[in-house]
Amino acid sequence: MARLVGGLGTSHVPSIGAALEKGLRDTPEWKPFFDGYLPARQWIREHQPDVAVVVFNDHFNAMFLDRVPTFAVGCAAEYLPVDEGWGPRAIPPFEGASHFAWHLTDTLVENHFDPEIIQEIKVDHGLQVPMELFWGKPSDAWPVKVVPIFVNVLQYPIPLPDRLYALGKVLGQAIESYDSDEKFVVLGTGGLSHQLQGARAGFVNPPADRQFLKDIAEDPDELAGWSRQRYIETFGGEGAELIMWLVMRGALNRDVLVKHQHYFVPASMTGAGMIVLENA
Ligand code: DHB
Ligand code: FE
Repeated sequence: MARLVGGLGTSHVPSIGAALEKGLRDTPEWKPFFDGYLPARQWIREHQPDVAVVVFNDHFNAMFLDRVPTFAVGCAAEYLPVDEGWGPRAIPPFEGASHFAWHLTDTLVENHFDPEIIQEIKVDHGLQVPMELFWGKPSDAWPVKVVPIFVNVLQYPIPLPDRLYALGKVLGQAIESYDSDEKFVVLGTGGLSHQLQGARAGFVNPPADRQFLKDIAEDPDELAGWSRQRYIETFGGEGAELIMWLVMRGALNRDVLVKHQHYFVPASMTGAGMIVLENA
C-alpha cells in the first residue's frame, strides 16, 4: 500500500517566486527566509516522495467568482502555471497523479465529501511557490507528481476548520488504502497571518503565528475547533488561508514529530512559516 511519509506546511506568498526569478535569493532581505527552508529541502532529498498532494487555494487566477467550488480535486494529467498578470512563470508543468486523484475522489465521496472534479486547470502561486520552496526550481521536470486539492478560502461562506480537518482524515485513509508502493507527502499551504486589503491591510500577528506552528503539531483538535471568525480576527482576512493546513494535519496521525520548522516576518506582507511533520 502507499505510504504517507510526512506532512509539510508552508506559506505561498507570490513575491517568493518573484524574488527567485529576479535573483534576489541571497540578498540580505531574502536570504534568512530562504535559508530557513534548507533543512526541509534536505528532508525531501532524503525521503524522495513520489506524489505530493497540495492543498491550496486559487486566487481568482484560474477560476473567478462565476465558479467557486468549496472543494475540488485535480484529476488532470498535467497542470501548467497560470498567467497571474506578468505572463506565465518559466517553470516546468506539473505532472498530475490522476490515478490516485480518482481514488481520492472516490474515497471522499464514500465518506460524504463531494468535491468538484477538475480535469483541466492551470495552477497559481498557491501551488507553485510551495513546490519551489521544498523541491527547488527544476531545470526540466519536477521530480514528483502532484494532486491539487483546491479549497475556497476567498468567497464567503468558506468551509469550517473542522470540516477541513475531517477531510484530511479521509485523505489519509485514501493514501493508506491506495494499492501502490509510492511515497506520499501532503502539503498544507497559505498564511500565516496577513491581511492584504481593507482597514487592517498590513496586519500581521507574529505571536499568534508562532503559537499556530506549535499547536498544528501538538494540538490540532484545538485549532480545528476554532470558528472561521476567530481565524480572521487572529490571522487577518487572508491569514484565514491557514485552515488549509488542517487538511495536511488531519492526514497524519494524532501524534507527530516536528522534524523542522521556520518562521520569518514579513515576507511581502505576510508572516511566513514552514513546518515538516512525520507520524510519531
Ligand atoms: C500575499 C500573500 C499570499 O498568501 C497571497 O496569496 C498573496 C499575496 C502577500 O503577502 O503579498
Ligand atoms: Fe494566498
